[in-house]
Amino acid sequence: MFRTKIAGIGHYVPEKVVTNHELEKLMDTSDAWIQERTGIRERRYAAKFKETSTTMGARAAEVAIERAGIHKEEVDFIIFATLSPDYYFPGCGVLLQRELEITATEIPALDIRNQCSGFVYGLSVADQFIKTGMYKNILLVGAEIHSMGLDFSTEGRNVTVIFGDGAGAVVLQPTEEPGKGVLTTKLHSDGTYAEKLAMINPGAHSGYHFNKRGEHIDWGYPTDVEYGQNFVTQHMLDHGQIYPNMDGQFVFKMAVQKFPEVIMEALQEVGLTPADINMFVPHQANLRISEFVAKKMGLGPHQVWNNIQRYGNTTAASIPIALSEAVEAGAVKSGDLICLAAFGSGFTWGSALIRW
Ligand code: UT7
Repeated sequence: MFRTKIAGIGHYVPEKVVTNHELEKLMDTSDAWIQERTGIRERRYAAKFKETSTTMGARAAEVAIERAGIHKEEVDFIIFATLSPDYYFPGCGVLLQRELEITATEIPALDIRNQCSGFVYGLSVADQFIKTGMYKNILLVGAEIHSMGLDFSTEGRNVTVIFGDGAGAVVLQPTEEPGKGVLTTKLHSDGTYAEKLAMINPGAHSGYHFNKRGEHIDWGYPTDVEYGQNFVTQHMLDHGQIYPNMDGQFVFKMAVQKFPEVIMEALQEVGLTPADINMFVPHQANLRISEFVAKKMGLGPHQVWNNIQRYGNTTAASIPIALSEAVEAGAVKSGDLICLAAFGSGFTWGSALIRW
């Protein structure tokens, strides 16, 4: 029986650094508030009109492919996780295939829309394909360009200050090395709270939505046409209804509950305990969340990889960027137990245990 191993990992972050002080010039916020509530000092923003989730994902993928020691033509399946795709459709998977110039092999490309837990979901999907022997070199990418779709007015400050751009990628292969590879993955979701962290427009929804205060939201749908013109309306644009929204405190409370739950579920399945974890790489949602979870699991600072201070929350890219950095820094050694965990919009959440 094969297990899945990470044969190569890489990341790419855009050059442009945006500090909290720079955001202070755009909205009513402060470096002190952002650092105290989130731990973030700065984030990266993609080069305008030059970089996208696809192009950043491709740069990360090139590094992962090189480190895996394969030719790009050997990739036999692409999985791309993002909430900020270049197009509404088609997804970034096929665009990445084109960007990497590997269309000739006509390999399948799958898009994952699971926001912050997109990478863990993608890893779990890939793991199933590797274990059955169907694919041998799966390229899994998590990439985000948040900077193009945030509300930079004070109205959007609770969301905007958190997010950053970047990409991470892994090449997944089968391994028969005893004990090594992905030991388990655990996935969950609860759609009850779908709108607690969401970007609703543009969308083909019913239009029946309420804001945090329980007031009905007017999307400005034209009443004189039956079809069309509902996807995005002038009213939505004029009233800032095209930006992501978050009930931060609610999400925070759910996150600190679900992270430990899903980690313990994975550990219990394989007969391990938190004390066995050598490196915990959490989705970088908020430094306070990661520190709370680490404390609850009894993990010291040297057992947790945090980089939200420098990159903000890069959603589907955050785990592969963090893991790639940890590997580059030599903080992950052969035989180490790596724990990945994520929670986010949906809500969706998940964990993975990997024996490196
Ligand atoms: O990755 C996906 C999952 N996402 C998460 O896990 C995020 C979870 N939530 C959080 O990380 C936190 O809730 C936030 C960092 C988003 C917000 O922190 P908070 O401590 O929960 O603040 P809050 O939303 O309760 O807001 C407290 C105050 C409010 O002012 P009033 O009503 O008390 O006067 C906000 O308007 O802080 C205000 N505020 C800000 N002030 C300065 C909100 N955002 C900002 C800001 N700068 N950027």
